[in-house]
Amino acid sequence: MISEKDFWYILAESHELKKDQLKACELFNDWLVLFRDKNGKACVLEDRCLHRTVQLSKGRVHNGHLQCGYHGWVYDGSGEVVQIPSEGPEMITKKKCAKTYDVIEQDDYIYVRLNSKPEIETKPFVMPSYKKKGYTTIRLQNTFENNVTNCAENFVDIPHTTFVHPKIFRDPGNEQLEAEVTRQKGHVKVTYLGEKKNFGLFSWFLNPKGSDIGHTDEFFMPNVTTVNYWFGGEKHFIITSQSIPLKDNKTLVYTDLTYNYGIWNYFSRPIIRKHGQAIIDQDIVILRDQMKGIEKYGTNFSYSPCDIIHTYIESIQKEIQEGRDPGLLPDRTSRIKFWI
Ligand code: FES
Ligand SMILES: [Fe+2]
Repeated sequence: MISEKDFWYILAESHELKKDQLKACELFNDWLVLFRDKNGKACVLEDRCLHRTVQLSKGRVHNGHLQCGYHGWVYDGSGEVVQIPSEGPEMITKKKCAKTYDVIEQDDYIYVRLNSKPEIETKPFVMPSYKKKGYTTIRLQNTFENNVTNCAENFVDIPHTTFVHPKIFRDPGNEQLEAEVTRQKGHVKVTYLGEKKNFGLFSWFLNPKGSDIGHTDEFFMPNVTTVNYWFGGEKHFIITSQSIPLKDNKTLVYTDLTYNYGIWNYFSRPIIRKHGQAIIDQDIVILRDQMKGIEKYGTNFSYSPCDIIHTYIESIQKEIQEGRDPGLLPDRTSRIKFWI
């Protein structure tokens, strides 16, 4: 049986967790506490003291040990209680261990996995072109009042862009787009064909010669999307979003804006950050509104042929929710046309 909890989720950016600091985190409604042990390795414990269930994140970290703020029990990175102050220097109580979780630090993110099953092998997503020569990355964090699937679908949804992001991302331009959409082993890929315009205010910079734009959108189960644009074969822009389920209807999204604009990499940073955040702010509002509607009326959605991308993503999510491996779904390829 596969489950959402068999996958890896970001809990923090590496720089957020300095020596002797801790971070209280939520994931799937669970409370976790994150800190670095005496060797600097990131560790995750259930955020609950074994003694009287005070949140350990209310305590403090000292020399890589986490101390509860109530009676001072001390935990090491493996979750073992190594000191009970009221027992003096010789601990009498026999060995006790808090619940711990697997942690991997990769691409300057700290990932956790709640379930550890030897028969299900999963790995954290590798952030595309992160620290690759010629590329620079801007990282953003935003909280959405919606679930992971609706967030991920929004991040690879083109038809909303002219309505939710007029001017700053796209202008309604009566452009017809054609795309090939494939579903294969828990992965959905959309390849757009013959896209030329529609970058609103930034067309003059991103695509001054009006060349064909290379554009793919991808979904990787259960929570990652990537959007790639290539302009005139020189400039490359990647938006990678990892959607972290804090609660059923609350999702923390880590967004990497990674790009190669040659000599403009450095100077364009502030404008790309501002522009990216402005687009995300608009999506936060519409996704909050969508969730209000779902809470009232449920998810009895209607579909048009252009929604095949959503259909494929939802088919993958449904398999995971029902404990089946989406990799076993048959491969599918569709061609779609739509106007933007
Ligand atoms: S509740 Fe944590 S030490 Fe007592
Ligand atoms: Fe959007």
